[in-house]
Amino acid sequence: MKSKIGVTPEVELFFRPHLARIERIFPQVADHRLFQLRFADGAVSEAFQHTPGQFIELTVPGVGEAPISVSSPPTRPGVIEICVRKAGRVTSALFELQRGDQIAIRGPLGRGFPLETFRGHDLLLVAGGLGMAPLRSLLQTVLDERRAFGDLILMYGARNPDDILFKYELLGLMNRTDMKYLLSVDADEEGIWKQYVGVVTGLFKDVSLNPETTYCAMCGPPVMYRFVVQELLNRSVMPERIFLSLERMMQCGVGKCGHCAIGPYYCCTDGPVFSYSEIRDIKEAI
Ligand SMILES: Cc1cc2nc3c(=O)[nH]c(=O)nc-3n(C[C@H](O)[C@H](O)[C@H](O)COP(=O)(O)OP(=O)(O)OC[C@H]3O[C@@H](n4cnc5c(N)ncnc54)[C@H](O)[C@@H]3O)c2cc1C
Ligand code: FES
Repeated sequence: MKSKIGVTPEVELFFRPHLARIERIFPQVADHRLFQLRFADGAVSEAFQHTPGQFIELTVPGVGEAPISVSSPPTRPGVIEICVRKAGRVTSALFELQRGDQIAIRGPLGRGFPLETFRGHDLLLVAGGLGMAPLRSLLQTVLDERRAFGDLILMYGARNPDDILFKYELLGLMNRTDMKYLLSVDADEEGIWKQYVGVVTGLFKDVSLNPETTYCAMCGPPVMYRFVVQELLNRSVMPERIFLSLERMMQCGVGKCGHCAIGPYYCCTDGPVFSYSEIRDIKEAI
């Protein structure tokens, strides 16, 4: 018998946590780490097919669950990467674990970025802070299938030069001729920053966008969304072409508990990725 998500009950990914092992841990900036995870069961690993922007519910045994975005691309299956900020109970307990320890995963959950719609079009990715975690999944997907997409621009804003996630990986993008990578920091107290200092929207002065062919995908704090959306609307990008990922407190992650309601939507199942046209009339959305 097949379940509603098309896998056998043995590998039901939606409601049942499946054991996975921490394969490697890479320190990132302060209080952030990248974890590489692999399911214990190969059939579960094969059934796990995510879209950039989707998340998992990560269980630290004996502690609890937390929603965390998938940071790796679907084009590199087998290992799931997550970038985690030490925030509270579950994430602090995760930071106590070592390589080889077991956690559990439900997912992939939610609605990610509309990858099929993006294919063949120009893409502007805008990330702020930890928003780079889910956008990295989309970025790597596009880079792995570079010919399937048009022009690619990444704008990433961090608080200061020490807060840039995936720093060395992203530095490698600077020399690419098939994309534009623009980086900003809000403040540079030591005066060492050679690129733009200011909020991420300041980077728009260096790009020209074709509103007819560009889709925008963004992930960051709500205040960033308000300013970036305004920049895009000023440049005649239609609300239907602007996609953003919203973050809400979650419990079940599967549309049952109502914790993550945003207007008529549940962030966990209708989102976390929404088009701006879907949420622009919901006052509390951003
Ligand atoms: C769809 C989605 C994707 C996410 N992706 C990531 C990710 O890739 N990496 C990452 O580090 N974190 C991510 N988060 C945030 C993460 O789930 C929270 O930080 C979570 O609270 C961590 O669990 P905890 O038990 O460690 O912290 P808790 O003990 O639950 O809480 C720590 C603090 O964070 C507050 N908090 C909890 N959830 C949220 C929320 N959604 N928004 C604002 N404040 C909150 C609590 O009130 C408390 O002050 C994501 C959240 C969502 C909804
Ligand atoms: S987290 Fe339970 S309905 Fe969304």
